[in-house]
Amino acid sequence: MIHRKASAYIHKGNLENNLRQLRAIAGSSKICAVIKADAYGHGAVIISRVLADAGVDFLAVAYLEEALELREAGIKTPLLVLGTTDPGNADIIVSNRISQTVFTQDLAKALSESALRLGRPAFVHVKIDTGMHRQGIEPRQAGSFVSFVSRLGGVRIEGCYSHFTEADNPDSDFSTRQIEVFNRALDAIRAEGIEPGIRHMANSAALLRIPESRMDMVRPGVLLYGLSPDADHRLPGGFKPVMEFRAAVTSLRDIGEGEGVSYGRIFTASRPTRIALLQVGYADGYSRHLSNRAAVVIRGKRAPVAGRVCMDQIMVDVTDIPEARVGDEATLFGLPELPAGELAEIMGTIDYEVSCGISKRVPRVLIERG
Ligand SMILES: Cc1ncc(COP(=O)(O)O)c(C=O)c1O
Repeated sequence: MIHRKASAYIHKGNLENNLRQLRAIAGSSKICAVIKADAYGHGAVIISRVLADAGVDFLAVAYLEEALELREAGIKTPLLVLGTTDPGNADIIVSNRISQTVFTQDLAKALSESALRLGRPAFVHVKIDTGMHRQGIEPRQAGSFVSFVSRLGGVRIEGCYSHFTEADNPDSDFSTRQIEVFNRALDAIRAEGIEPGIRHMANSAALLRIPESRMDMVRPGVLLYGLSPDADHRLPGGFKPVMEFRAAVTSLRDIGEGEGVSYGRIFTASRPTRIALLQVGYADGYSRHLSNRAAVVIRGKRAPVAGRVCMDQIMVDVTDIPEARVGDEATLFGLPELPAGELAEIMGTIDYEVSCGISKRVPRVLIERG
């Protein structure tokens, strides 16, 4: 019996391919790759190194801790923290040359004090709330807020940005309204005699569908990883899955007709059945919602999940794959014929949650070629 753990293989070539696709669509706009949440579960350091080598313009994370992880790993690419940060951390932000989102006077003032004390500029991107109502200043306050920030010593306004609520919905015109609100806020900033710097709004869905959203920079996340931004889980042509989640077959057993498998025996064999055991479970991020509903691919053929997903193991029906052997690696998702979106559909969620859910105990393994 072998004990090989589940692994998330990160296909470097597919990541580079997806970046090229995004660049072709973005035209002259800079690319800010969104690599928050451990690069949507792919491994932020691994992904950032590949993207930095490929010359990406910016990397965006949600939290300061995520930015520091990258700086500690030696990533020199400009970094933007999208979330707000406790003003008490201003020195750390400034001394690590991290660009910080601001929409409160407190944080802007703290960054200014640190910049003056440390003798280094504080770079900020002003967030404008154009309809998401999550974070950002009110558009009508844009002129006065940016004017306040611009008068703070040591602070450089590197950019202004906003975020779409439903760019993934082709039937909605709300994104167009958000762009109008954003542009009016930028006009109010210019009326104060201040240049807004890098203007950015577009996530993956907007980048694909709304040319006027591209501005000076775009902020794609999910498409970079070869996952779909849409509720229908369709991946646009040319993009390829970056993460392939695999687990080895660690044993095989034959059971008779009428016998049950796993907790609660919700799978009952309708014929003499061969069951393969895979060393992966919901503790690795393979959701229990996939019990008896998903399939894996072994030797190019689909094997249905038999019974409940356990914490550390799953069983799959390989009766129709007699060539399956102990040691074979099964793919749980990340193939064109078995995309993460297929699991997301079963789980009633979006592609994002499938890759983000792969847990820390799964090693991320960079595959350089092939
Ligand atoms: C502020 C912001 N910008 C850009 C993105 C990237 O979005 P997507 O992964 O849909 O491209 C996100 C992700 O949620 C975000 O929160």
